[in-house]
Amino acid sequence: MSDVPLLPSLEPEVARLLARHNEASARIDWSYREFLPLEALHAPSDTPPLSDLAYTAVETALLTEANLPWYTAVLHEGLRDSLAPLQEFVRVWTSEEDQHSTLLETYLLLTDNGDHAERGRRRKAVLASGWSHQLEGAFEAMVYTTIQELATQVFYICTARVCEPDDPTLARALRRIAKDETRHYAFYRDVVKAHLDADPAYVIPLVNVLVEFQMPGRVMSDFDERSRMLASEGVFGPEQYHNEVVEVACSFWNVDDLASALPEARVALTRLNRYRAMLRRLAKHRSASPAVGGRSGVG
Ligand SMILES: [Fe+2]
Ligand SMILES: [Fe+2]
Repeated sequence: MSDVPLLPSLEPEVARLLARHNEASARIDWSYREFLPLEALHAPSDTPPLSDLAYTAVETALLTEANLPWYTAVLHEGLRDSLAPLQEFVRVWTSEEDQHSTLLETYLLLTDNGDHAERGRRRKAVLASGWSHQLEGAFEAMVYTTIQELATQVFYICTARVCEPDDPTLARALRRIAKDETRHYAFYRDVVKAHLDADPAYVIPLVNVLVEFQMPGRVMSDFDERSRMLASEGVFGPEQYHNEVVEVACSFWNVDDLASALPEARVALTRLNRYRAMLRRLAKHRSASPAVGGRSGVG
């Protein structure tokens, strides 16, 4: 194929075609659920509906997982010129992540939990928002995905605990997903570790990513509200994020020792310690504070 560019002068026309498509889509707005014989598949009536808290946690996980096409697009683009095994990992990772939203959505459908049409609208809104980040380069992407996978793993374990009394089968499914997240975490974490071993100066961009971290689920319009609820009910918030994510990763990577031994990393270390102190304060006042560090969500 020859490289024939599109005409910049035609941008308004393309914008008009996009508006036409959006209008037509809004008029149709169908959902695949309408075509499934769900009545025949509903679980026996002795399965109680999930509590509001359990449903919110599961739906938050689902809506974050559902945005997978954008995570894949961003990673694929960001790693285009990087190491070949990383590019292959992203394809494998995508195939594994794809199961997560499918499992959660199917569970909620078959057990008739929540408002399916409303959930479908929220899912579309999330995907229409896309996903972007401020990361610079492949190393920062590796640090980001490490933290995101670990936070996700912890989130699933916490959610499984909340769901256990309502439905142990769901709790088992959530723990199964958490195992995938653990394997993803281990891969990204060890890519980062290998770079730190080769050159401790990598600790500086690592800290920058840590203190700026935000979960990808942020594109949900009510994400802060969900985070506050899940934190105040003790499901997942700054406390879990600090103790089970930030401290675990920092300790594995030996961040404190690496940064203290490197004069040019002192500013970064001070910033990191300030950030950890802020998380600890938030954890203490979790019911009154938004979940700044422990942004719930998964991927
Ligand atoms: Fe994952
Ligand atoms: Fe996932």
